[in-house]
Amino acid sequence: MEWFTDDNVNKFCSSDGFLSKEDSMRYIADVVIPHPWYRAICLNDKPIGSISVSPFHGSDICRGEIGYDISSKYWGKGIATKAVKMVASTIFVDWPHLARLEGVVAVDNVGSQRVLEKAGFVKEGVLRKYYLVKGKPIDIVMFSLLIY
Ligand SMILES: CC(C)(COP(=O)(O)OP(=O)(O)OC[C@H]1O[C@@H](n2cnc3c(N)ncnc32)[C@H](O)[C@@H]1OP(=O)(O)O)[C@@H](O)C(=O)NCCC(=O)NCCS
Repeated sequence: MEWFTDDNVNKFCSSDGFLSKEDSMRYIADVVIPHPWYRAICLNDKPIGSISVSPFHGSDICRGEIGYDISSKYWGKGIATKAVKMVASTIFVDWPHLARLEGVVAVDNVGSQRVLEKAGFVKEGVLRKYYLVKGKPIDIVMFSLLIY
């Protein structure tokens, strides 16, 4: 609830945020618990955000996609950058089949692009109308980090 009810966070998310505790519980049961790599970002043991790596399958299995959200109360303190760096330093060990970690960011989400740059990701280019945000296809910037 801390970040999925936060309009500043939701405007960059592909789907709508949560309106109720029941929505949150359903999301935890349906998405978080079955997810292969999903973590809370905690400050003094309190969850203030999340970070995940989503797998691809078949011949795309060498790729994973990183995603993260932080409650806007905690923005601008370097927390997302630190979390992304922590994931980048462990995910290639956790998932030895991975050769490439991708970050897919809306062109107007400059803060998130900056996070990936600070964590060592390389900006590869803009992909037009690449994914849906609130049902509308948007242009994204593709970032990647390759196995060291
Ligand atoms: C993106 C997000 C995770 C960043 O979290 P954070 O903890 O504030 O990130 P950090 O403090 O590590 O770094 C943010 C950087 O972006 C910069 N930044 C933020 N907004 C910016 C803007 N509008 N223009 C330019 N730079 C911006 C900050 O100055 C900082 O860079 P700096 O250290 O060089 O000054 C957070 O804003 C968020 O949860 N946004 C909503 C969800 C989202 O966009 N998730 C990612 C989807 S791809």
